[in-house]
Amino acid sequence: MATAAPSIDLKEEILRLKKEKNAIILAHNYQVGPIQDIADYVGDSLGLAYKAQATDADVIAFCGVHFMAETAKILNPHKTVILPDRNAGCSLEESCPDEALEKFLNDNAEKNYYVIAYINCSAGVKALCDVICTSGNAVNIVNQAPEDRPILFVPDANLGGWVMEQTGRKMDLWKGSCYLHVEFTRESIQKIKDEYPDALVVAHPECVQAVRLLADEVCSTEKMVHYCKNAPAQNIIVVTESGMLHRLQKECPEKNLIPGPTDHCACGDCRFMKLNTMEKLRDCLKNLSPQVEMSPELCEKAERPLLRMLEQSKK
Ligand code: 13P
Repeated sequence: MATAAPSIDLKEEILRLKKEKNAIILAHNYQVGPIQDIADYVGDSLGLAYKAQATDADVIAFCGVHFMAETAKILNPHKTVILPDRNAGCSLEESCPDEALEKFLNDNAEKNYYVIAYINCSAGVKALCDVICTSGNAVNIVNQAPEDRPILFVPDANLGGWVMEQTGRKMDLWKGSCYLHVEFTRESIQKIKDEYPDALVVAHPECVQAVRLLADEVCSTEKMVHYCKNAPAQNIIVVTESGMLHRLQKECPEKNLIPGPTDHCACGDCRFMKLNTMEKLRDCLKNLSPQVEMSPELCEKAERPLLRMLEQSKK
């Protein structure tokens, strides 16, 4: 999505408010260009979680979707965590309500599942899990799961399927998906490959298997930066949310980065990620609202599997 350049005044106002409130601006790789450009840190879910854990700012302005801001709050219960638009949700989060997961675990109590949750889920789901993972560390986390227990992987069946292929570890998969990543199809990606026969393809593991099979590399958004920088090709087709192209163009200006098309549009905008704007970022810093709020009990329960992930991820 093309975004008009923000006015100098708006940028200055955001920077002034940031200083005044002692805030840090964290932005996901899918945010619009101007937000990425003004952020203190831009990265994937894993990098953002580490940054949120390490910050000594009083306020975290989280430009991403709600579960990401919520993760920052779980790691910083005493800090103020704000987000530009409270409606920036996630279809993966929606696909696994905590009540449904709790019922499933109760109904299958005899299985004694080791539950691994992709970070794209609510705090309520995190609280029911043994460990969290992101797309950047999912293989590593699954490899560290106890061998004597069956694994339930929630909520993304595509990421889970990819991790099974990588690790050889069988897992039971929750049937959730990212509404945007499943819009990339074998046909839409083959068509763009035919247009650029010498291009390499990098895809996010939330894509369906038929698309992953066409890719030269499947990885998290942050690993895409490393891959594109070092890829021995000029043309690279990037199969993920469109905001990634802004980050990649900045990091690899010498490469021709081609957005992977879906069946019905030239590139994929996540309708949730794109709810955040510079104006809303300014307003949330000004009003310290909307804020992420959570009960201390829920926060404590959700923190355990997150800390386990951050620890295991270093191994
Ligand atoms: P990354 O952790 O790879 O940035 O993925 C985030 C995400 O939500 C993908 O849709």
